[in-house]
Amino acid sequence: MSTDVSSGYIPDHPPLPTGHTPVLLREVLAWLNVRPGGRYLDATYGGGGHTRAILEASAPDGRVLALDADPAAVTRAREHVDRAAGRLLARQGNFAGLAALARAASFDPVDGILMDLGVSSFQLDEADRGFSFRLPSPLDMRFDPRDGLSARDVVNDWAEADLVRILFSYGEEPQARRIVRAIVEARRQAPIDTTDRLAGLVERAIGGRRGRAIHPATRTFQALRIAVNRELESLEAGLAAAVELLAPEGRLVVISFHSLEDRIVKRFMRTEATDCICPPETPVCVCGHRARLRVLTSKPVRATEAERDANPRSRSARLRAAERLA
Ligand SMILES: C[S@@+](CC[C@H](N)C(=O)[O-])C[C@H]1O[C@@H](n2cnc3c(N)ncnc32)[C@H](O)[C@@H]1O
Repeated sequence: MSTDVSSGYIPDHPPLPTGHTPVLLREVLAWLNVRPGGRYLDATYGGGGHTRAILEASAPDGRVLALDADPAAVTRAREHVDRAAGRLLARQGNFAGLAALARAASFDPVDGILMDLGVSSFQLDEADRGFSFRLPSPLDMRFDPRDGLSARDVVNDWAEADLVRILFSYGEEPQARRIVRAIVEARRQAPIDTTDRLAGLVERAIGGRRGRAIHPATRTFQALRIAVNRELESLEAGLAAAVELLAPEGRLVVISFHSLEDRIVKRFMRTEATDCICPPETPVCVCGHRARLRVLTSKPVRATEAERDANPRSRSARLRAAERLA
């Protein structure tokens, strides 16, 4: 069976409706060490591109449990289940709870776990989700629209200092103070409840597009999305749960798009690859920590130039991989 993963098209699988090009596809299959008969957990199904390739590479009897927090992604995954001849399971849920979700599905231990973080093109393109400043829509941005605070709640209710903090740290927005001042002034007049109103006021606060590589509201929207979905907290919890679920020699592969996420992944893998984590001045180990992972990627794996050209989203992708020790 031939597998042309580079194009994202797997010949023996009917093409799925995919509005999302999976990043680092070849690299994911290699670092996950996908093989026939293996059991894999795709913690971020999205448009299913990685799941589809994992199913193909693990044929004829490999199995995948696909998770996503977004019910719309899980609906896509369920359509995919129907075509996967018993080899795919789909569940809705946050990967922070992935160990419990997998155990409830009697899908443990697993040979590989993939986390491809952030937002999918489907979510950016759905007009009513509020992820994109390019589409006028209610300001929501929740991966699971039934759960937690929306971006509207955050923008209208959070204290000025908290908004500045998230724009600085999650958005790396140097003009955070100026933007937040404009938000606070505008919300005094009327609640900011649409993407276009927010994008417009950011643009007026820090100037238009001229001379910038990205839209002036890009960083603000990114910061809000990370805060709304508690993405960094979920990542920490998901990584810890992943180690619990991996079989000996099972692989953990994480693709991040933001330096804060990558730092969390790097530190987590390093710590889990270290026996004692007592402060260096401690004369005798008191922590009792034992390494559970071996780090496989000393530096993050980046997209090739060809992939960067073909898929601009891949430019900021960083993949890190580790293996569960026996
Ligand atoms: C970049 S997309 C994944 C794309 C996918 N690998 C593909 O090939 O189509 C990220 C997906 O992860 C989901 N997601 C993000 N954070 C999550 C979390 N904490 N738990 C579960 N799903 C999450 C999002 O809803 C989104 O669908």
